[in-house]
Amino acid sequence: MTVSLVQPTGVAHTRIYAYGAARGENFVPNDDLVGPIDSSDEWIRQRTGIVTRVRADTSTTAVDLATDAAREAVEKSGVPADQIDAVIIATISNPKQTPSVSAIVADRIGANPAAAYDLNAACAGFAYGVAQADALIRGGIVRYAVVVGAEKLSDIVDPTDRSISFLLGDGAGAAVVGPSDTPGIGPTVWGSDGSRADAVGMNHTLVEFRDGEAEWPTLRQEGPTVFRWAVWEMVKVARQALEAAGIEASDLAAFVPHQANMRIIDEFAKQLKLPDTVVIGRDIETTGNTSAASIPLATHRLLEEHPELSGGLALQIGFGAGLVFAAQVVVLP
Ligand SMILES: CC(C)(COP(=O)(O)OP(=O)(O)OC[C@H]1O[C@@H](n2cnc3c(N)ncnc32)[C@H](O)[C@@H]1OP(=O)(O)O)[C@@H](O)C(=O)NCCC(=O)NCCS
Repeated sequence: MTVSLVQPTGVAHTRIYAYGAARGENFVPNDDLVGPIDSSDEWIRQRTGIVTRVRADTSTTAVDLATDAAREAVEKSGVPADQIDAVIIATISNPKQTPSVSAIVADRIGANPAAAYDLNAACAGFAYGVAQADALIRGGIVRYAVVVGAEKLSDIVDPTDRSISFLLGDGAGAAVVGPSDTPGIGPTVWGSDGSRADAVGMNHTLVEFRDGEAEWPTLRQEGPTVFRWAVWEMVKVARQALEAAGIEASDLAAFVPHQANMRIIDEFAKQLKLPDTVVIGRDIETTGNTSAASIPLATHRLLEEHPELSGGLALQIGFGAGLVFAAQVVVLP
């Protein structure tokens, strides 16, 4: 006699219940960084749109930032912390490879013994995490999940590097995902191109550092290469996400791209022909590029500044080191 295995089935739909945010404690204006890179406040404003970025105190860790953001999201969601059964944290800047940020955060927010794991998809990490939470809930092995993007990038910047260091900030953004009566998370369009792994990432391995062959590893990028890839290839991905969700750009209430460069954001808006009614996340101006945290931080801010966006559709797209990318349309809580 053959036995029949139980396989779970979940709910039909999911949605984001609430967002939380934590930013580094200190504003670091352009003028504080320009000396070692022979740059200027004017150059950085014109080429990136950044006026100042947030960076955390030395004693504040990515775990602390993630905890604060997750706690706010859970409190606002109304979901009891002990019913959260997955904590997914996207990060590339945890200086300890193990244990994960997520297991510690799950415990700190009262979600112990939730499943917990970290996810490395760089600046696409939050959108990857939302895709996973959605799939895990619809697959029936998770009821509520917290997805966090958390970075303390200031630990992996070289103040003399002109390619990326002046872009980067510290922060965490979180979202609670759970079951929904109506569709709240559209299909995710995602992927990677490892043939371009050298375009952005760490400049050395920890082993090279240990053996005295290299300085402390820091982030580097081929700026113009990444810029062109973002503008040309990512617009196609954004369009695919709209199409997969069955909507038009004019149906959007908000557009929240990864906060990499204001010129990239403007180019997206132009190429997607976003009408003026679509509110665009421009958190980069005062927060900088916080990699996995940038999309939820920008969304959190949009919802604070424009509460009328609640219930509207937002297109989010993340892209970065790997190269990797992910986009989806979500209903704003
Ligand atoms: C990094 C970035 C801001 C550089 O801007 P850019 O317009 O591409 O600048 P370029 O590298 O083409 O350099 C243009 C000029 O500025 C100079 N320059 C480069 N970096 C500079 C800096 N930090 N400060 C001052 N001048 C700088 C260059 O030397 C060059 O000078 P030249 O015209 O005399 O030769 C931009 O490429 C970028 O944002 N890239 C994508 C970032 C991204 O999406 N990352 C995703 C992963 S997080």
